[in-house]
Amino acid sequence: MRAASRTGEHPFDWTDPGTWDAALDGVHALYLVQLNGSRLVRPFVDNALRHGVRRIVLASGRGLDDPDYIRGNGDIRNAALDSEAAVRDSGLEWTISRPGWFAQTFTEGIYADAVRAGELRLPAGDGAASFLDADDVAAVVVAALTGDDHVGRTYELSGPRAVTLTEVAATLSEITGRAIRYVPLSRPEYVAELVRQGVSGKDVEAFANVAESLRLRKDAHVSDGVQRALGRAPRTFAAAIQGVEAVIDPPVRQGR
Ligand SMILES: NC(=O)c1ccc[n+]([C@@H]2O[C@H](COP(=O)([O-])OP(=O)(O)OC[C@H]3O[C@@H](n4cnc5c(N)ncnc54)[C@H](OP(=O)(O)O)[C@@H]3O)[C@@H](O)[C@H]2O)c1
Repeated sequence: MRAASRTGEHPFDWTDPGTWDAALDGVHALYLVQLNGSRLVRPFVDNALRHGVRRIVLASGRGLDDPDYIRGNGDIRNAALDSEAAVRDSGLEWTISRPGWFAQTFTEGIYADAVRAGELRLPAGDGAASFLDADDVAAVVVAALTGDDHVGRTYELSGPRAVTLTEVAATLSEITGRAIRYVPLSRPEYVAELVRQGVSGKDVEAFANVAESLRLRKDAHVSDGVQRALGRAPRTFAAAIQGVEAVIDPPVRQGR
């Protein structure tokens, strides 16, 4: 197995096609995480064919069929749809993974710092999502790379039920033994906080739109992809973040 990215053992940069050939050399099956908003999957797949790649699993996302899934996300959505079409039309054995929100968003992703600070301050009302264990995504990808039952399938992946942000905070508090609360903000309040933190104008709107999709429960429905691909139910939010103390504790301790 070979993991390739800008900082990994095998250097690969989407934005530098000069790094593509080395990453593909000797590869038969490939898991591709696209660079959001770029149109690079199509030329990359052409390269993969020349290198003798036979199978490709593409990381995509839920909500691509809904133009209003995340406001202002049109360019990213259109690029992802083009990536999916490139893979489906490639002649390779293909599988597409369409995950929703990762549970690890709160422990390693964009909201991890807020969790470390003890307050999840978001303009998300009583929003919810069917948060998904990133390990379940990995298990589906491994199954698709190594087994023959997943060829030509698109898997929409979610956790087992919708979880509100209040429940997220309560579960994080329970598991870590620390007070972590969800504080609903208005959009203007959230925007003002991000601006004070030095986030740039374009990113401020993007963050606010992502939180809005939580408020509107755009990703709260449940999909059957984990069950279909693995023959078992997806892991719960609480199970996904077990052991999270190790991830969120150290920086807080340093500041105590
Ligand atoms: N987080 C979620 O809840 C969620 C839900 C559904 C779908 N997704 C999608 O899943 C994908 C991964 O999400 P994530 O949250 O795991 O993202 P992430 O934490 O930002 O990971 C991005 C990875 O891509 C690599 N990377 C970044 N720029 C690169 C470049 N120019 N060339 C090569 N590699 C590059 C990074 O490694 P290096 O720094 O070493 O290059 C890193 O390992 C994204 O497409 C995202 O839209 C995420």
